Amino acid sequence: MSFNKRVLQKAVHRAVDKAVEEAVEKAAEVLRQGGLVALPTETVYGLAADALNPEAVAKVFAVKGRPGNHPLIVHIGSAQEVGLWAQDIPEVAWKLAEAFWPGPLTLLLRRKPEVPAAIAGGHETLALRVPSHPLALAVLKAFNGGLVAPSANTFGRLSPTLAEHVRQDLQEKVDFILDDGPCRIGIESTIVDCTGPSPSIARPGGLPAEALAQVLGFLPPRSLQVAAPGCLHAHYAPRTPLLLEKPEALEACAKALCAQGKRVAVLHPHSMALPENAQWVCLPEALPQFAHTLYALLHALDKQPFDVLLMSLPEAEGLGSALQDRLVRAANAHF
Ligand code: TXA
Ligand code: MG
Repeated sequence: MSFNKRVLQKAVHRAVDKAVEEAVEKAAEVLRQGGLVALPTETVYGLAADALNPEAVAKVFAVKGRPGNHPLIVHIGSAQEVGLWAQDIPEVAWKLAEAFWPGPLTLLLRRKPEVPAAIAGGHETLALRVPSHPLALAVLKAFNGGLVAPSANTFGRLSPTLAEHVRQDLQEKVDFILDDGPCRIGIESTIVDCTGPSPSIARPGGLPAEALAQVLGFLPPRSLQVAAPGCLHAHYAPRTPLLLEKPEALEACAKALCAQGKRVAVLHPHSMALPENAQWVCLPEALPQFAHTLYALLHALDKQPFDVLLMSLPEAEGLGSALQDRLVRAANAHF
């Protein structure tokens, strides 16, 4: 590399750093003013607002069209802030926070009485998470407080994994969008309920149960309590109906649908013989890539004139159980 090229590269890096710094400061300022900021996290883009500003929190519910009894996750900059929001924190919650924060883990704890109930949809519990995305952390640091941040999408629809998804869905309803390209994990955080006698999984997500088991010494069960939006029977849905079939039945099912005059997209790792009205869409086989790509693929396919999206569930191991959870809910929205 020549001397000049190095100098040029350094100058470019400095300019980029400065632009990022300015964008982070602008985001923090918008949040201080009670505005809404779409910001990238390692899971999906969040719609952030000052957790302690009741009007800003109300705006989040309104913009998403989210029922008021569906609680929000409060994002904080570090585990040291947990005590500001929650009380009676069990030892196991600290253990999980130490092992997995910052990261795709949300802890359900007992809400401190002075924390506004509206954040938690009136529940006595509160969901807390320290995201690992450097920009999310930088905004939290500059803002110096807690931010509610549900996924930045209209209630019931697919979560955004690109800033473009937020623009298309919420447009001018958001005051500022921090764009940092695709979210690394691509599926929402794992929610662990730490309010019971033993931790349980309230929502499978970007942190696999097997990773939790390594720290806990046992595989946490799914919580039975059905409380909120992510736990609804039908949720996380593309507009185009999604149909789930066993892998060996995909080809025949696509043929039957095409015979009824339907245009079908078949999402699968391997190509197959399909009729003219059906199109194979390559879906990565490895689960991390599957998760990283899934929502973006569904967003993109929603813009094309398909009548049905057809695919199979992945195996239930690792990220597979979160993917199964989302796909079953998405399919339930239409069938
Ligand atoms: O990865 C994520 O968790 C993303 C990013 C932006 O951080 N956020 C996210 O938020 O998925 P949202 O609001 O789309 O989903 C939050 C889920 C909902 O299913 C909600 O019911 C549940 O967390 N939740 C939040 N607070 C709760 C509480 N106090 N009790 C029970 N469930 C709660
Ligand atoms: Mg959501």
